Amino acid sequence: MVRKYEKVLEQDYKTWYQEHASCREQVAADPRRLAFHLMPRTGWMNDPNGLCQVDGVYHIYYQYTPFEPTGELKLWGHYTTKDFVSYVDEGPVLFPDSDLDAHGAYSGSAYVEDGTIHFFYTGNLKYFDRDDYDYINTGRGSNTIAFTSRNGHDFSEKQLLMTTADYPADMSCHVRDPKVFRHGDAYYMVLGARSRESRGMVLLYRSEDLKHWTYKNRITTPETFGYMWECPDLFEIDGQWFLTCCPQGVAQQGIDFENVHQNVWMKLDYDFETDAYEIGEIRLIDRGFDFYAQQTFEDEKGRRILIGWMGIPDADYTNPTVEAGWQHALTLPRELTVRDGRLVQNPVEELKKLRDGDGVRMVFGTEQADVPGVASERCGADVPLVYEAVVEFRCCDSLHMTLRRDITLSYENQILTLNLGDHGCGRTTRSVQVDNLQYLQIFVDTSSVEVFVNHGEETFTSRIYSMEREFCVSGDNAGTLTVYPLKAFTLEDQCDA
Ligand code: FRU
Repeated sequence: MVRKYEKVLEQDYKTWYQEHASCREQVAADPRRLAFHLMPRTGWMNDPNGLCQVDGVYHIYYQYTPFEPTGELKLWGHYTTKDFVSYVDEGPVLFPDSDLDAHGAYSGSAYVEDGTIHFFYTGNLKYFDRDDYDYINTGRGSNTIAFTSRNGHDFSEKQLLMTTADYPADMSCHVRDPKVFRHGDAYYMVLGARSRESRGMVLLYRSEDLKHWTYKNRITTPETFGYMWECPDLFEIDGQWFLTCCPQGVAQQGIDFENVHQNVWMKLDYDFETDAYEIGEIRLIDRGFDFYAQQTFEDEKGRRILIGWMGIPDADYTNPTVEAGWQHALTLPRELTVRDGRLVQNPVEELKKLRDGDGVRMVFGTEQADVPGVASERCGADVPLVYEAVVEFRCCDSLHMTLRRDITLSYENQILTLNLGDHGCGRTTRSVQVDNLQYLQIFVDTSSVEVFVNHGEETFTSRIYSMEREFCVSGDNAGTLTVYPLKAFTLEDQCDA
């Protein structure tokens, strides 16, 4: 039996693992298992954690509830890869096994220096001894904890850095998800926070030795933007700082902020000497139904790579995979760059290795450049189940594209809309304004879709639950379309406990 709300030791996990052999078989047989996305072997997955690269190896940890697809007690699972197309499931590595983190080894990050990985995470505690705790301002502890590793597998002792009492007095019990970076001659940590007045913000700490941390500042918008900012990250690309986080409690504004919780980047001008700052443009990172808790890291090539959770908490739509014993996945790894002052995301180039052959290329619309013509429809069911479609428009006034039965992407009046029809399990439509649609790169996995618009200016990430192949392009447009069947990535299992 899986015990809830008690410490979980590695030995407990090993015992439960032995008891769940049939569960593993049932999950593995689910036709909705993804071909080229990381998923929990069984149970539940949420945030990517501790992303880093050391000695050529990428480490991708994640929030993991091994045996319950609805998510309960959290530990850290662990995948590794050298190339983003062949992975190793290393099995869980961080357990809520101490008085510091007994009710969840919550999200955290990694900072690499001189071959040592410095991990930081939140040890979640819930005090279950009273009925009147609201778990917002009372009844919860959030410890900031550190440990180190040289290889990503063997960890030092957990070291308590800060407790709830160490955060500013006007904070609620919700302070978590440390992300650490170096700037100038110091280290900085951002923590997601909710004040007692239910205002979302980020707390900024400074350290000279990664052990002793001093509170510097709080970063928030002039007007309240949600009650809690989860999973913050702060990084610089081409001299511009970006703060990314997941605000909760932001009201929908037209086609913006339609999901229950948000994922945003904010342009941030920050003076680390005086702590003066200004938040500029705020935009959704991803416009789809299933994107949250993104984290970035710089790899050994100097690329800033983002991975998100392909899921979201508290949504009113569902995932039928729960019936098979698993839920959620991670997004494809995406390289972040800055174009015209905006953050753009593109799939890492390694993913081209998943292409199975040169693809099928077709020209549609008029042959003359710049003259829109009613495209001859390209329809059929011969498209593979798992594929990448690249569309280069010479011009596009309108588009209607079917990616699978009932799953469509349409462009009318400069609004691009993803519609999941009757196959979204409660997911309906999500849209974005695109002034000039020039390029689409679409990854269709067994039960997910990721759309990159105009070389990453906008993205949509969603689970989809239509398994019926259907493909069609029509509308007032012209260009070329290439469809590449995709191979599954390889996954080696090293976690037989
Ligand atoms: C975001 C989040 C984090 C927390 C973790 C717990 O999805 O709520 O704030 O650390 O998940 O699993």
